[in-house]
Amino acid sequence: MTHVFTIAIDGPAGAGKGTLARRLADHYRLNLLDTGLTYRAVAHALLRLGLPLDNVSAAETAARQVDLAKLDRAVLSAHAVGEAASKVAVFPTVRRILVEKQRDFARTPPGAVLDGRDIGTVVCPDADIKLYVTASAEVRAKRRLAEIESIGGTANFAEILADIQRRDERDMGRADSPLKPAADAHLLDTSEMAIEAAFLAAMSVIDDVLAKKNKA
Ligand code: C5P
Repeated sequence: MTHVFTIAIDGPAGAGKGTLARRLADHYRLNLLDTGLTYRAVAHALLRLGLPLDNVSAAETAARQVDLAKLDRAVLSAHAVGEAASKVAVFPTVRRILVEKQRDFARTPPGAVLDGRDIGTVVCPDADIKLYVTASAEVRAKRRLAEIESIGGTANFAEILADIQRRDERDMGRADSPLKPAADAHLLDTSEMAIEAAFLAAMSVIDDVLAKKNKA
């Protein structure tokens, strides 16, 4: 059987895991899946239909209809969709449907970088590499504010920080697949680290693992 290579990246919103995942997928020529988009697609479907976010059976139907090849980041990246995604992500049946699709994606050669909240713990517990990317809530809020301002928008730091803290609580506090580092994850705290430094640190972890595999 061909061995597919899997890199699992988890962490809270705004820690820089998306950028890191993209850089690593490019560098190691692996497929890339931002699993947050799958939860966002479910939330977006309910919002579009005007259905409440706690309508579990509608959320399950929307989850079954998620097509990984058709996830539209431009539509799904809206802040409100992220907030709504964390509400539908608490339902175990919705998670099971999406996790199956994510595992199928991970199994496709040559392998993939997947980023999310439960990749190293639930989706790909046998991943070759697990990274847990984090940063303080204040740093994440500052980055988000800078991002908004860089495209000409305005926002309030205290509100962004409160949003981030609320989302962390929901993601870390849920009963099914809460956000937490896998026991064998490498921790990368990007609070005082530029993305380039985080990329280099991740590469050194990955290259070590690859060198050991090649020797074995
Ligand atoms: O990463 P992103 O902000 O796009 O994720 C949106 C929400 O989807 C998260 O706040 C989380 O509740 C949920 N999610 C999840 N498991 C994943 C990825 C995202 O529960 N693997």
